[in-house]
Amino acid sequence: MADIIDGKAVAADVRESLSDSITTLKDAGVTPGLATVLMSDDPASETYVSMKQRDCEEVGVDGIHVELDADAPAQELYDTVDELNADEEVHGILVQMPVPDHVDTRRVLRAIDPAKDVDGFHPENVGRLVAGNARFKPCTPHGVQKLLEAYDIETEGAEAVVVGRSDIVGKPMANLLIQKAPIGNATTTVCHSRTQDLEGHLSRADIVIAAAGRPAFITGDMLKEGATVVDVGINRVDAENEKGYELVGDVAYESAKEVAGAITPVPGGVGPMTRAMLLYNTVQAASQQTGIEIDLA
Ligand code: GUN
Repeated sequence: MADIIDGKAVAADVRESLSDSITTLKDAGVTPGLATVLMSDDPASETYVSMKQRDCEEVGVDGIHVELDADAPAQELYDTVDELNADEEVHGILVQMPVPDHVDTRRVLRAIDPAKDVDGFHPENVGRLVAGNARFKPCTPHGVQKLLEAYDIETEGAEAVVVGRSDIVGKPMANLLIQKAPIGNATTTVCHSRTQDLEGHLSRADIVIAAAGRPAFITGDMLKEGATVVDVGINRVDAENEKGYELVGDVAYESAKEVAGAITPVPGGVGPMTRAMLLYNTVQAASQQTGIEIDLA
């Protein structure tokens, strides 16, 4: 039976460790500010953004929320980003993805001031991350690294398999794991929908990061005995309960936990870490923009 990796507890530790930095900033007259922008009717996106705003309130970060109609002209979103770039009280800007089809995602990401890009999605910040000189580590992969660190999972020399190649998780995750840096130095393979022999790769993996967005498709029989399994998937599947759905990871938890050495649950694994690292990046952004020094772990 695997150890259960408790993302809620580690996220609470991250928030706790941020509180000294937030106090330092406030004592110097600066309240870190995070703007979230939602241009979507997707209920999951609405939930994520409202949780992010709730987190801000809890730790004393100023939350500013802008909501645009999903069918508003794309220019409204670009203008909103420009206004937030110019607002000195806003240190971090997050535009919830995905944006509607009539909006050019790349243009939105390029429009955000890289210094305020707490997602780390601006091409300048992507380039810096790949070069090993990250300004902001994208929240989910950064959160995964914190979980691996908190549970003393050795990445150096480990065989890591990242399943999924998204810009938000898979690509930055693989880039972090190969870096010559703490919680890096892993021999890292990226698998995706065209991978020929996923099971062969998984059977050799000491660390599996599942981020393909396909419910429960990695099963216990595909895993190496004792592997660490980090499940980034949050899939809504129909269920006969009050909500009409339940959340399921990319990993079939019940079978995987019998084989894995350590595993993250869904919910309560990676999700809380993504949110905690957004606060972390916002506090870091406030420090960078104001020159007020803080001590972030
Ligand atoms: N949609 C799903 N994950 C994310 C994220 O980390 N940041 C943003 N902006 N949108 C998302």
